[in-house]
Amino acid sequence: MICNCLYIETVGMVKCLMYYKTSFISRCKFFSLTETPEDYTIIVDEEGFKELPESEHLSVAEATWLALNVVSGGGSATNSQPIGVTKIAKSVIAPLADHNISVFMLSTYQTDFILVRELDLPMVMHTLSSEFTLLRVVNGETVAANSLGVSNGFVKPKLVPRPIIHPLSSPSNMFCVTSLDPDTLPSVATLLMDVMFYSGGIKEPGASSEDSGHIRFFSFSLIEGYISLVMDEQTTQRFPNNVLFTSASGELWKMVRIGGQPLGFDECGIVAQISEPLATADIPAYYISTFKFDHALVPEENIQSVIGALRTNESAGQ
Ligand code: ARG
Repeated sequence: MICNCLYIETVGMVKCLMYYKTSFISRCKFFSLTETPEDYTIIVDEEGFKELPESEHLSVAEATWLALNVVSGGGSATNSQPIGVTKIAKSVIAPLADHNISVFMLSTYQTDFILVRELDLPMVMHTLSSEFTLLRVVNGETVAANSLGVSNGFVKPKLVPRPIIHPLSSPSNMFCVTSLDPDTLPSVATLLMDVMFYSGGIKEPGASSEDSGHIRFFSFSLIEGYISLVMDEQTTQRFPNNVLFTSASGELWKMVRIGGQPLGFDECGIVAQISEPLATADIPAYYISTFKFDHALVPEENIQSVIGALRTNESAGQ
């Protein structure tokens, strides 16, 4: 029997916050930094949070969030499954949205983290317990996490359409989702710093100034020893050959940016509005929430149909 296990990482006590630049963070096991045109979003665990200097430039999202991560049971290789949020759209994201639980997504090269407020954990477990075996990782040990005495909370995904409420845009850049052997990190550290903090406004030779649809977006994460990097195609060319790994197919991804006004942290259902239609169309997707906006990455060849499908769900015209 295939059983889906939801790992509740206790290392994933994360605060999400915005920070204008960062120092090197050492003891933290969950670190992610995403640059967008507006700001830098950092997600760190409590260890990492302690190491951040106080700064008036730092806004911290209220509440502590837990990082959940869906691991497919059965013990076999998971690579044959649909990638990213598409895989969990109907089983995890939609039920959480139906229970009014706000989430914050972080897809990486290796997996997809769904952050939920620590306060919402009982409701999250109640919602997911009939579909999943819930496991909690405590100091590296996996233990059952079913002590809440609540069950049967599963609500079938809504059959009613979920209108898209926030404006969408699609930048012109193409993105790569890559990884790096942690041993090679020192050799590219300066380059990473340069890319993340010192390349602002410098146009790559290929990107002409009239390319107004091009946005700055770079995401780096180091989570439990695994590195994931999401960057545009031009930026990958700054890395030495063979340093970055990509999936065998070496796909390029286009971005759908969600939000006109900052999305905040309380609203629920945004990830569901985007990921459910993608799951229905069987289109793989990565999804990265940042302090202000959300970002879905879909295969380059699917972007037109994705935009088309999402536009028909837009509520603006109703
Ligand atoms: N809370 C939203 C949801 O449940 C996703 C996050 C949006 N907010 C943000 N700051 N990116 O769908």
